[in-house]
Amino acid sequence: MCGIVGYVGHRSALDVVIGGLRRLEYRGYDSAGVAVLDGDGGLAVERKAGRLGNLEQQLDAVGRDAFAGSAGMGHTRWATHGPPVDRNSHPHRDTSGKVAVVHNGIIENFATLRAELEAAGIELASDTDTETAAHLIALEYAEGPTAGDFPASVRAVCRRLEGAFTLVVAHADHPDVIVAARRSSPLVVGVGEGEYFVASDVAAFIEHTREAVELGQDQVVEISRDGYRVTDFAGEPAEGKPFTVNWDLSAAEKGGHDYFMLKEIDEQPEALANTLRGHFSGGRIVLDEQRLTDQDLRDVDKVFVVACGTAYHSGLVAKYAIEHWCRLPVEVELASEFRYRDPVLDRDTLVVAISQSGETADTLEAVRHAREQKARVLAICNTNGAQIPRESDAVLYTHAGPEIGVAATKTFLAQIAANYLVGLALAQARGTKYPDEVAREFAELEAAPAAVRKVLGTVDQVREIGRRFAQSKAVLFLGRHVGYPVALEGALKLKELAYMHAEGFAAGELKHGPIALIEQDLPVVVVMPSPKGRGVLHAKLVSNISEIQARGARTIVIAEEGDEAVRPFADELIEIPAMPTLLQPLVATVPLQVLAAEIARQRGFDIDKPRNLAKSVTVE
Ligand code: AGP
Repeated sequence: MCGIVGYVGHRSALDVVIGGLRRLEYRGYDSAGVAVLDGDGGLAVERKAGRLGNLEQQLDAVGRDAFAGSAGMGHTRWATHGPPVDRNSHPHRDTSGKVAVVHNGIIENFATLRAELEAAGIELASDTDTETAAHLIALEYAEGPTAGDFPASVRAVCRRLEGAFTLVVAHADHPDVIVAARRSSPLVVGVGEGEYFVASDVAAFIEHTREAVELGQDQVVEISRDGYRVTDFAGEPAEGKPFTVNWDLSAAEKGGHDYFMLKEIDEQPEALANTLRGHFSGGRIVLDEQRLTDQDLRDVDKVFVVACGTAYHSGLVAKYAIEHWCRLPVEVELASEFRYRDPVLDRDTLVVAISQSGETADTLEAVRHAREQKARVLAICNTNGAQIPRESDAVLYTHAGPEIGVAATKTFLAQIAANYLVGLALAQARGTKYPDEVAREFAELEAAPAAVRKVLGTVDQVREIGRRFAQSKAVLFLGRHVGYPVALEGALKLKELAYMHAEGFAAGELKHGPIALIEQDLPVVVVMPSPKGRGVLHAKLVSNISEIQARGARTIVIAEEGDEAVRPFADELIEIPAMPTLLQPLVATVPLQVLAAEIARQRGFDIDKPRNLAKSVTVE
């Protein structure tokens, strides 16, 4: 949600900013804008609803010469306050036009601030919360206690703002400086040679530098050609956390694929292998920034998994593994529901918060609630230094690399792998598994990347099936045991990419209602358990399939290689390699990702940027 780029250096700010915004497109947006300081007291601003292309056309129409300067900023907006129209797009300016602001997050006390500005005779030109910040900074700069001090004016206004926000501010009287501030929303500084960047995500400046500084909570940074300076909101010197980005430009490009999502599906074996790497050493499972001791893990008497969307589905898989391996009760909860129902938490509760972005507001609030109740929180995250791991007691990073496609694919598989690591770490600490059993489970996990590679070798058949069913009105997905979360994930992928009605069900629930949906030629995808490991469930699912086939549905069956018993009931059969029962989601999910992507492509949709969706959802 909302992408932000700021730049001061020796290149064309417009080029750097537009290039950065392109790399942030994956976050999701519905309008875009830029502001460039011309060095002579001028501040040129342009903004446009719709895709970046619309903004670029507008820039061509007005003439790019007006944007010749080497300090500036840009923004992609995901509408919260006011519809996605030109006047609500960022940057927003004060009445004089000297101050420009771009913003990510929500200023929660904006109604009060707006009323205050209106009472002072200021007419606001947009419906946004952001515009209030532009006027307040201008007023502070003109007549506040630190009048004439640009960074101090920004700090003074930040102290008044409530909510989560990243602000980037330009002032026409200070053409060589950009000031940025953060509270809870993401902001990183890029450190180049004689050039500095601020952005929501390192992807925005990765083609210029891999050296970055992560800003802390309630910090302000000023960038100029000479360097950067960090303070807290009170103006006291502060320090960010320097880091070097461990991936390069090629990871953020399509690498010959038509879409990022297709590249990311292909990258899943590496994402899995990288997530597992280094986590078994000296005969033990080792987690990353594990600030929880073995005693802490032994004290746990209940586990909650909190997450949203795809991450939630990975949590559902975790429940089966942790309960089975550790004999611990596990509840999996949508993060958006968690804190509003007063869950029973105490210091012996372990809350596992799963989020690829580490920015999801619902999950972040669930983490905060859990910590207030004294529960211990372990984050599983794909983004180094994001807010959720920062606020958790411990973190286990998935190393899937950057995921640009809005639909989660490789991060889902990596999250499942990380969940298994948590389960094994708990089992190891609590002694519910002997060391040789833990070692065996880990070895099975290590074999998963090769199995996923094998599935990827068969995607042509899945694409063909996708083409045949692309014009269906709806698709149902069924599974049992760990196949149930896989069914939910398959349905979610199809909804978000192909805008089709898709529902996932526990196959046993079919007869309790959903069977009424079955009609002639309705495609029903069934995730079959192994005929070996869970023989009873296999037989039950075969009965379920025959019931739906008898009612005219078309069955698309994902089944283990050599599963002859299911063949007569499959109108389409997609074979996957045999896996230990709990690990089957790692291979069974892949064809469903491919199926959804192909159906969406057949229907003419952009699978990297599904409508209305954002990659990181930073509002509740
Ligand atoms: C997945 O395809 C979706 N885009 C969405 O459900 C996502 O998984 C959810 O918003 C959670 O995001 P997070 O992992 O960044 O917290």
